[in-house]
This record gives sequence, C-alpha cells and structure tokens, in this order.
Amino acid sequence: MLHEPEDIQDLPNATDAKRLKGEVEFKEVDFYYPSEKKAALSSINFKANEGETIGLMGGTGAGKSSITQLIARFYEATNGSITIDGIDNRDYTVQSLRANIGFVLQEPFLFSSSIRDNISYGNPSISLEEIVEAAKRADAHEFIEGLPNGYDTVLGERGMGLSGGQKQRISIARALLVNPSILILDDATSAVDMQTEFKIQAAFKELMKGRTTFIIAHRISSVQHADQILVLEEGTIKERGRHDELLEKNGLYRRIFDIQYQDLEAIKAQTIS
Ligand SMILES: Nc1ncnc2c1ncn2[C@@H]1O[C@H](COP(=O)(O)OP(=O)(O)OP(=O)(O)O)[C@@H](O)[C@H]1O
Ligand SMILES: [Mg+2]
Repeated sequence: MLHEPEDIQDLPNATDAKRLKGEVEFKEVDFYYPSEKKAALSSINFKANEGETIGLMGGTGAGKSSITQLIARFYEATNGSITIDGIDNRDYTVQSLRANIGFVLQEPFLFSSSIRDNISYGNPSISLEEIVEAAKRADAHEFIEGLPNGYDTVLGERGMGLSGGQKQRISIARALLVNPSILILDDATSAVDMQTEFKIQAAFKELMKGRTTFIIAHRISSVQHADQILVLEEGTIKERGRHDELLEKNGLYRRIFDIQYQDLEAIKAQTIS
C-alpha cells in the first residue's frame, strides 16, 4: 500500500465495496506492465471461492506478485476480467476495494515509532485494548511485554530492532486489525529460516481463518495444504491442483518437491552425523 505504482482512478459510477465475501475470479486475463512489450501474464483463469487458500508457486518473474497486484487494482488487466464477489474490481472505488485486502510481505516495513503505532499504523481510533488483542492472536504479546517499554518501545532507537520472526508477528497483528476478507501473503516467510517459519505458522493460521488467502511461496511446505495450487511459468498457469494431485502429475511441481525433499533429507543426514 505504501508503494502505489500507479495512479488508479475511480470510474464515474464506481460503488463502495462494503464487506466483501472474498470470491475472486480471473477470466482470460492478460497483463502487460505499462510500456512493456512482453506479457507479464497470459490467459490466466481461476476461481478462488470464499475462504479458500490459493497457493502460487513458480520461479522468479513467473507472475505471482503480478496476480496479487491486479486483485488490489494497483494495475489493471490489459484483457479479460477480474471479479470479486461477481463484480468487476474496476467497478468498486479503489479505497473501498483495498480496505478489504490485507498484505503481508517479505520484509515488513516498520516505522521508527512505537510498537503500538506500528501495529495500528498510528490510527488513534484504534484502542490499546484492540492492539493488545491483535498482538495476542499474532503471538506477539509475550515478546512485546518483554521489551524495555512494552507497547511504547520505540523501534529504531538505540539500535532497538526486532528479529525477522518478531517483525512478521507485528505484520500479522497489523493485518488482524485490518480484518480483510482477502489476504495476500507475498513471500511472507522467505526472509526467515525454516525453524522460525515453523514457529510463526500458528499465527499465520489464525490470520488466515475465514479469509480468502493467496500464499506466494517458494517452499512446498507453505502451500501444501492449499485448496488450489497454481504453478506459474513465464506468466501462464502451467499446472494446477491440490498437493497430491500435483505430485502425481510428475511435472514442474513434482520436480520442485523432489529437490526440496532431497535438501531436507541432506539436512537431516548432516544433523545426525
Ligand atoms: N513494475 C514492473 N514493471 C515492469 N515489469 C515488471 C514490473 N514488475 C514485474 N515485472 C515483470 O513482470 C514479470 C512478472 O513479475 P512478478 O513480479 O509478477 O514475478 P514473481 O513471480 O512475483 O517473481 P518473484 O518470485 O521474483 O517475486 C517479470 O517478467 C517481471 O520482470
Ligand atoms: Mg514476487
């Protein structure tokens, strides 16, 4: 939200999206970034039902983030349509659409301000009780209480920093306060090690409850429980299905799985010897 790449305007008859259910559908979507000759996305079709988890996999530049940018209308599809709850996302006002969408990114942006302000984005209408409640659900309350000034601890002061896992918990608490119906986790755990990822999984699960969630990940472990996994390559969906179905297809997903599984076995072997 802090890096709006383009000035997208409301259409003249745009309506306010109230609380959306979070059904997201792409129909024949092609997308070119402004002044790019090569398509970032071609013929994208999928439907995410309310509350489903969609895993997005694929190498760098495959188009994963572009899909999520289109959902929030940071850009507009060149061809095809994107509907949310059956209505084209261009027919909602930008502000009301984005109020329904929460992002958790790879490197959460923290301000040199108090923990409290970092969780509430400095919104004075959010009470400390609400902030503490969100922090508890994000498994962040305990470490915050352990900081020199608790919720009033100012980040960035006297080298006051947080670990990768702690930062991610702050961003989970933020997203809980926003309470979006659509949640986008873009590489949210790639900056932390696997052990930390494992520890914050419960907080992510709490955050995802009852929301349509798009998980962009490189690790199979992050998407294997998704209702649908879309495997992208060069802007197109190469494979789709559930984890087990994709393993049986013996394609790209299977190859990624085999490589990651081998690495895991190698780590285990090293730990034992
Ligand atoms: N702002 C931009 N302007 C022009 N081209 C872009 C822009 N952002 C991405 N692209 C291009 O669009 C294509 C898809 O990029 P995208 O960021 O969606 O990939 P990704 O799957 O999220 O990759 P990664 O895993 O590296 O984040 C790539 O070819 C990329 O270079
Ligand atoms: Mg990306």
